Amino acid sequence: MDLLEKLFFIGFLILAAAIDGAQSDTMVTGTVFCDQCKDGQRSLFDYPIYGIKVTVACANSNGQVTMSREETTNWFGNYAMKFDGSPDLSGCYAQVSGSGQGSTGCGAAAGPAQNLRLMFRMFDMEMYTVDPLLTQPAQPMSFCPRSTNPVPAPVTPVVSPPPFKLPPMPGLPPMPPLPSLPPLPPLPPMPPLPPLPPMPTLPFSEASACLHDNWTMPEYKCYWRAVNPDTKVAVAFGLLAARRYGTDMTLWQGLQGRGDPYRTLLREGTTAFLNSYNSLQFPYNAIGVTQRMNWALMGSNRNVLLTALRFRRANSGYGQVSCKFTPCK
Ligand SMILES: *[C@@H]1O[C@H](CO)[C@@H](O)[C@H](O)[C@H]1NC(C)=O
Repeated sequence: MDLLEKLFFIGFLILAAAIDGAQSDTMVTGTVFCDQCKDGQRSLFDYPIYGIKVTVACANSNGQVTMSREETTNWFGNYAMKFDGSPDLSGCYAQVSGSGQGSTGCGAAAGPAQNLRLMFRMFDMEMYTVDPLLTQPAQPMSFCPRSTNPVPAPVTPVVSPPPFKLPPMPGLPPMPPLPSLPPLPPLPPMPPLPPLPPMPTLPFSEASACLHDNWTMPEYKCYWRAVNPDTKVAVAFGLLAARRYGTDMTLWQGLQGRGDPYRTLLREGTTAFLNSYNSLQFPYNAIGVTQRMNWALMGSNRNVLLTALRFRRANSGYGQVSCKFTPCK
């Protein structure tokens, strides 16, 4: 998982913690992926998996486990654990310890345990992250490339796992072909969302690119998927966006922005985010949009404008693809 993805999840979790009203001191977060092709690493076909039990354990210098905690992954494949105070968790590790409901077919622990890494300390709070953990199905899925060598059975967990580094992800993968599309996680558990309007008729595979004006029309409200107009910008785009736009701004408000480059970026980024969930052929996927937003927010004014412009072009379908909305029933 690269830094920006982490920031995205952390932003989400900070907000989640704030919404919880819980005063958490130390937090450990990470993600579990289903390694569908059993290639032992996170790749294009892998998706975050729900309902996997993860144990974080700490050992003293004699190798005795001094503390351990178990948590189950949510619909985003994320888990988060809170610890009181600020214990030093740098000697602890996380591993898949079992599967609960929902992980059917991909519940076998695979790959090594991972160490915890301190990401930051802020507001009396420490945040540790863990590199992705993997689970595998019994057999690689039929659409997996033949050339990959299946990785041998899961390693028995050890107290101090040898340092293991996932190979860097080669850029951002293009959207996978239809049959292998990893299932999109259903609605996030937090914040509570009102029931979704009836599904629109537009097939996900059809090319469609809509402008922000289209997205704010009440008659197209049923095209909002995965997020809704009240979803906070900070939840959708993460910590950097929370810092820039505040934690109160909603996606709906983000769509209205104009004038300054940052508001333009938010408007076009939000539009691209919505388009990505609406058409498989949209040039960016949701994570791609989030990453580009974050890169832009870390860069100069010029980066902000360039990114906004790229999103704008994609949202306008490059003059080739139109907006295929039809009024919702
Ligand atoms: C989307 O918005 C554009 C510009 O406002 C407009 O020309 C187009 O007709 C709209 N498309 C739909 C399907 O409403």
